[in-house]
Order: sequence, then structure tokens, then C-alpha cells
Amino acid sequence: MRALIEELCSVFGPSGDEALIRELIGQHLTELVDEIRTDRLGNLIAVRRPTAGNGDGKRIMLAAHMDEIGVMVTHVDAQGFCRFTTIGGVSTNTLIGSRVQFANGVEGAFGMEGSPLSRERPTPQKLFLDVGAKSKEDAAVQIGDTAVFRSSFGAVGDRLFAANLDDRIGCAILIQTLRELESSPHEILAVFTVQEEVGTRGAATAGYGLEPEVVVAIDVTATGDFPEATPMEVALGKGPAIKIMDRRMIVHPKVRGWLENAAKANDIPYQLEVLEFGTTDASAVQISRAGVPAGTVSIPCRYIHTPSQVADLNDARQAVSLLAHALGGEFA
Ligand code: ZN
Ligand code: CO
Repeated sequence: MRALIEELCSVFGPSGDEALIRELIGQHLTELVDEIRTDRLGNLIAVRRPTAGNGDGKRIMLAAHMDEIGVMVTHVDAQGFCRFTTIGGVSTNTLIGSRVQFANGVEGAFGMEGSPLSRERPTPQKLFLDVGAKSKEDAAVQIGDTAVFRSSFGAVGDRLFAANLDDRIGCAILIQTLRELESSPHEILAVFTVQEEVGTRGAATAGYGLEPEVVVAIDVTATGDFPEATPMEVALGKGPAIKIMDRRMIVHPKVRGWLENAAKANDIPYQLEVLEFGTTDASAVQISRAGVPAGTVSIPCRYIHTPSQVADLNDARQAVSLLAHALGGEFA
């Protein structure tokens, strides 16, 4: 599974430009599902029809987002330096010293106006991107081009380091769940969504179109397990977190109970999560049409929305086990 996470993390896919990552995920799905299609907004929808039970299963949508945060060029000056805007919730404190990569492979380094010794807090207005150009004409990028954060994928034991574990680790979990799930009474709608980082847009349209009876998102969540962290009862390495609430969603008690029961019955370690900021694709589906009972399986992740995110491989493996057991049984 580590190899799958690393492979998914290596592919370009800022919000709105998910074609390459969609192509790669599609290749992994062909043997695993009955039907694959891409909807009009770009969501990749893989359907597996029920293989057990007597027709009493549910239509269950599982959502992991393919897109990642990044930057978009807004202006190229005469010397070839680029001004930019952010795509998604980029933490501008972390930009100095980080690198981005454009779809065409061009690298970008962040610089800031003024003295290199300045202690001023970086703001997007004071920052620029150096894309290796000697002039505007020489620049290999132009207005509207997008770039993603890139740092080499790393691992220390079971701890994984990458710029886009949010949410490629969730995509890997969803693929691996389909691999390990032997039979299910449910119709499974595995959706790899677009544009989550700019406001769960892909999930909104996919959820409307698919009319699921239950939705579960698979995404990263914050932790409270580093020095002087804001108190939060989620830590790396203690299992996947079953969400209770985030900023835009209160999990349906039946969905929470279904996931908790699957964990308890199969001795899968898990944590409960209350997140005071942010949300996931599940929140957009929850309020589509006449409403959909929604929940989220979260992967604890430190330094979310920075170029160096850290998660634990065991939490991902146990999330797969949790989802496979829940989906293999009845929804109740
Ligand atoms: Zn995410
Ligand atoms: Co995110």
C-alpha cells in the first residue's frame, strides 16, 4: 500500500486540472469495478454492483478527492517573475523555501520583496515565483497556469512524508478497499472527486447525480499530537478517526454507529474526531437533494496544507480494514 500512496502522490493534480491523476486512478480501477465513467465536471465514478445479500443493500457513495492545493499565475513581469494567487487553503507562512511544479515540469521557487534578512510575515502580495526565466518572453509559464507543491516522498518507518497526502492517501485507501472487499450487499459508488480544495464542488455535483442513500468521505484530518498543539483528541498511529463533527457537517448517528460497530467487531483501533475547522466532501453530499446520511473516515495528518504533510501508514491500512468490514456487512 505504501507504493500505491507514493505513486498517487507523484502525479500533478491541482483543483481544476485533475486529468493526469484521474487517468492514473482509472488504470488502478479497471479490474476492480463493473463500470467506470467520468462525469461532466471531471469526477471519476466507479461502480461495483452488489455481490451478496438479497437486494436489501444500500447505494453507498465513497468519496476521496483527487485534487490538491496549489498556486495559479496571475501576472508575469518583464524580468519573468510571476505573481500568483492560491488554489485552496494554502498556508502562506510555509511558502518561503518551498518549491512548486507546473504541469509542463517547470519548477518554481518562492521569493519575497525586500531584504533576505527581513523577519516580515510573508503575504501573497509580497511574494513572487521565480520560474527560472530571464524575461517575460523567456518564461515557460503564463497567466492561468497552475502549479502544485512538491517535496520528495519520504518515509521513516511507518511515518510518511509528502506534500499532498491530502488527499492522495484517501484515494489510495479507496482503491485498496475495493481490492480487499470480497463481497458486499451494497451498490458501491466509489467517487474520486475534483475541486474539493476550493469548496467540495465535485462532490456536490456527483452526489446530486448519483443519489446515494449513504455517503462516506475518506480524507485527512488534523491532530493534537505535536508540541503545544491546540488540544484535539486525534493522534498519528492510533487508527483511523471516525468523524463526529466538523465545521460544516454533523455526522448522522447511524453512519457513525455503523462505522464504530465495524471497528469494534473486528478489533480495528479507531479514534473519534471533532474538527473545529474545515470539512470534507461528505458535507456537500449530505445536503444534496432531500439529504443523505453522511460520515467520514479520517486519516490523522500533521501539517495539513503545508508542503510537508506527515501521516502514519498503519492508520491508512486500518482505514482500509474498517471500510472493507463495514461495506461487507449490513448498513444499520
Ligand atoms: Zn482533503
Ligand atoms: Co485539503
